[in-house]
Amino acid sequence: MARHLITSAIPYINGIKHLGNLVGSQLPADLYARYLRGRGHEVLFLCATDEHGTPAELAAAKAGKPVAEYCAEMHAVQARIADGFGLSFDHFGRSSSPQNRDLTQAFAGRLHEVGLIREVTEEQVYSKTDGRFLPDRYIEGTCPNCGFESARGDQCDNCTKQLDPTDLIEPHSTISGATDLEVRETKHLYLRQSDMRGKLQDWIDSKTDWPVLTTSIAKKWLNDGDGLQDRGITRDLDWGIPVRKGTQDWPGMEGKVFYVWFDAPIEYIASAQEWVDAGKGTDWERWWRTDKGAGDVRYTQFMGKDNVPFHTLSFPATIMGADQDWKLVDYIKSFNYLNYDGGQFSTSRGRGVFMDQALDILPADVWRWWLLSHAPETSDAEFTWEAFQQDVNKDLADVLGNFVSRVTKFCRSKFSEAVPEGGDYGEAETALIAELTDKVKTYEAHMDAIEVRKAAAALRSIWVAGNEYLQAQAPWTTIKEDPAKAEMQVRLGLNLIRLYGILSAPFIPTMSRTMLDAMGASDAAWPSDVAAALTALPPGHAFTVPENLFSKITDDQRAEWASRFAGVRG
Ligand code: MF3
Ligand code: ZN
Repeated sequence: MARHLITSAIPYINGIKHLGNLVGSQLPADLYARYLRGRGHEVLFLCATDEHGTPAELAAAKAGKPVAEYCAEMHAVQARIADGFGLSFDHFGRSSSPQNRDLTQAFAGRLHEVGLIREVTEEQVYSKTDGRFLPDRYIEGTCPNCGFESARGDQCDNCTKQLDPTDLIEPHSTISGATDLEVRETKHLYLRQSDMRGKLQDWIDSKTDWPVLTTSIAKKWLNDGDGLQDRGITRDLDWGIPVRKGTQDWPGMEGKVFYVWFDAPIEYIASAQEWVDAGKGTDWERWWRTDKGAGDVRYTQFMGKDNVPFHTLSFPATIMGADQDWKLVDYIKSFNYLNYDGGQFSTSRGRGVFMDQALDILPADVWRWWLLSHAPETSDAEFTWEAFQQDVNKDLADVLGNFVSRVTKFCRSKFSEAVPEGGDYGEAETALIAELTDKVKTYEAHMDAIEVRKAAAALRSIWVAGNEYLQAQAPWTTIKEDPAKAEMQVRLGLNLIRLYGILSAPFIPTMSRTMLDAMGASDAAWPSDVAAALTALPPGHAFTVPENLFSKITDDQRAEWASRFAGVRG
């Protein structure tokens, strides 16, 4: 048994996430957390909402609400929807928590103490029309790197380059559209991450087992020359964590707050403190401090590719720079993008299916299965309604659902609602057990390596093997000549349902629960020995026929949803 710390990139507070966001971080993180728990490991799975910065201020202004109130409401909404998707966070925190405020200020104070922060008087874009400085998303213009016309002041969404507002070509205010911008002097704090290039380079170079997507992005920014420029970590905003040097005032920084990307990853740590303060845990340091027991924790982060620079360079610079035995990430799993029906999912344009809408039309497990089995790992992936309908109908209804219903209904009608006896497993069963033993090994290997699509394919093939066995052995025919043999075949089938309930739980937790409950399976321990697992339900053990696991998506439903979600969210 090992200890695993797992975090998913913390979603911005400004609105409900779409399915592309979900499959790029929270969902695969949940898959991995559930799998490791299932295998008996100790897991701490943390997430939170990312509540500071311009996105929150702009969204609150649009909603006509004070920003603190807006964030509290949206946090509750996101928590409820996460729950609806079965995301099994041990804690879903808030980056606006007092814990994160204190910790962020402490990190800044510490980084200053070790000489990694410099105070810079710089020129910043000021809007006379708006009467304020325009940081980050308050300003848009053309990206100097790729020419994308709606690049934001802090990052280009098209090429992912991190930007400063003064880098933009033909900039304008996103508050008023004003172009009468001028450059004024103001003081800010910079993290000397360039001083840490060597250390970061060595660290990234040592991560030879990381996904290529992760290391290639990290190396690109490391070697790009300006990828590791010192980063401004403060902003002229009202909403955020006030700039302080630990618990002291920071002269000259009055009225300023930390940049959202400085405090957001620190929330990974603060979320563990919140977890303890909420009475759900007792010791956060044994997860986060290598001098307090976190040395044998394996820490895995999940995120979309646009988040990789911050997690491979900026946050590690904070952690390493502080030099206080903070736990560094061990493995970063990153994802490409999921596209929607010939275009991109877009939060700003409301294009695609959003998490709340998805749950309105279908159970979470249907989405979980499709999204995970099509996770955009090696390249971008695409959601289309045709593929979705076809894949889930086949996998969840024709293969898995059909197996469960055929076995249980046949047993009820020919024998009873108890596991029949019928003698020892024979040759066909022994062959199936050998086949499944191999397949389970393959499944575990892909899950251990967080190869999500391959793991889904392996699980599907475990379901298929059961179906093929049933088709070939045909107890409905056997029963005519050899009723005892048919009983034995059905006994195996019922045990297989229990096995499927255990193995499938990371992907489809609700359907798995249904299968296990129907089998009256009190013990759902991971099947380290498939042969033994397939005798877990003894003759005479009562079961029930479960409700239909999943009803197929009809052509009418598909057509209706395709048109309902074709336009822009109202
Ligand atoms: N809110 C960011 C996004 O959705 C992710 C922040 S991850 C963390 O892209 F590192 F800041 F925590
Ligand atoms: Zn660009």
